[in-house]
Amino acid sequence: MKKVKTAVIGCGMISDIYLENATTQFSILDVVGCSDIQPEKASKTAKKYEIKALSMEEILEDPSIEMVINLTAPKAHYDVIKRLLYAGKHVYTEKVLAVGQEKAKELVELAASKNLYLGASPDTFLGAAIQTGRFVLDSGIIGEPTGCLAVLNRDNRVGAEFIPYIAQEGGGIGFDVGIYFTTALSYLLGPVEEVSGFMATRAPMRKHMYPSHDNFDQTYEVACENQMSGSLKYKNGVLGTVLFNSESIMNQYPELTIFGTQGILYLSNPDFFGGDIKVLLRGNAEPVVFPQNHGYAKNTRGVGAAEMAWSIRAGRTPMASKEIALHSLEIIHGIAKSSETGKTYRMETTFERPRALPRGYLEKSEFADFPADQEAALV
Ligand SMILES: NC(=O)c1ccc[n+]([C@@H]2O[C@H](COP(=O)([O-])OP(=O)(O)OC[C@H]3O[C@@H](n4cnc5c(N)ncnc54)[C@H](O)[C@@H]3O)[C@@H](O)[C@H]2O)c1
Repeated sequence: MKKVKTAVIGCGMISDIYLENATTQFSILDVVGCSDIQPEKASKTAKKYEIKALSMEEILEDPSIEMVINLTAPKAHYDVIKRLLYAGKHVYTEKVLAVGQEKAKELVELAASKNLYLGASPDTFLGAAIQTGRFVLDSGIIGEPTGCLAVLNRDNRVGAEFIPYIAQEGGGIGFDVGIYFTTALSYLLGPVEEVSGFMATRAPMRKHMYPSHDNFDQTYEVACENQMSGSLKYKNGVLGTVLFNSESIMNQYPELTIFGTQGILYLSNPDFFGGDIKVLLRGNAEPVVFPQNHGYAKNTRGVGAAEMAWSIRAGRTPMASKEIALHSLEIIHGIAKSSETGKTYRMETTFERPRALPRGYLEKSEFADFPADQEAALV
């Protein structure tokens, strides 16, 4: 199979795990270079991964580069993706597609009109945990799904001391992290029809609180939401509740649960690829951990880009598709709109539920001299 020549744009915090995985785990990707608006960052990253430091123009003008992985901050996504699509590149982007539903929609339409692939994170739903959840659900183990619950609490008062964009436009708890929950639920339950909810920015002005911070004691604006709650009606009849709140404490126990006619499926944190999946069946007091038989239990950021590269070669729709990304973003946008208007928001987009990955392709086999190859699941 001809590898897909790929470049990376954006050499910040998340680029390390992407490049580590892309250069060691995914044989379909041939990462040739990286770029950043701050060229010294690109040079440092290029040296570390033995690839070329490139300018944006060099990427745009090189016809051998087929695909670009966009790891810039959310505010830059729209411009970067648009330029790449106009240059004829397939694009895989970190979340979210763009800041603002209209801009995201425009990118999706542009990619479609140019017959180019556009894929987007979160790709954690390709990981072992949510794939196991999908297997449980599709097997009918909890019966028909009827309800779902997503609860996410963090402390962005602390987080914003280290990651500035989470206090900026597009970096709020719903769009930045709630998107993992809405995407996982989209993948498991299919499209949503209607949304209502509330959104708020508690304490919109605050001070940097750590003496080690360059701007200690200076006031900054929280230019995004930090509380969001919503009510979702899925096309398949499931009713759901979500709470995304970054004015609490960071904890290990975000909740993602699907309630069915015969049992309850407790999923793990959809920000991660692995984690225990538990099932509680009618008549039992305690849930049991369901055994996992899928690959990608570790931090496999970039698996969505690799699956998209395999999809390009196969001529099929990628799993982390622009359609599921746009729909999952629209759910959050819908909560915001409903909060503004005081009315229910009717969803405009839809998507085909992506396939389930085959089981049994694990990272390790029980025979040390026959290592398994989990990439086979993506082909
Ligand atoms: N940091 C995390 O833990 C994390 C986790 C999951 C996903 N993400 C996502 O990954 C993306 C990047 O996040 P990050 O934390 O690495 O941010 P970051 O700010 O550390 O890195 C972004 C990089 O993009 C560069 N950049 C900005 N605009 C650019 C442009 N127009 N052209 C070229 N380069 C440009 C910046 O110079 C910076 O080096 C975001 O979409 C974010 O939502 C981040």
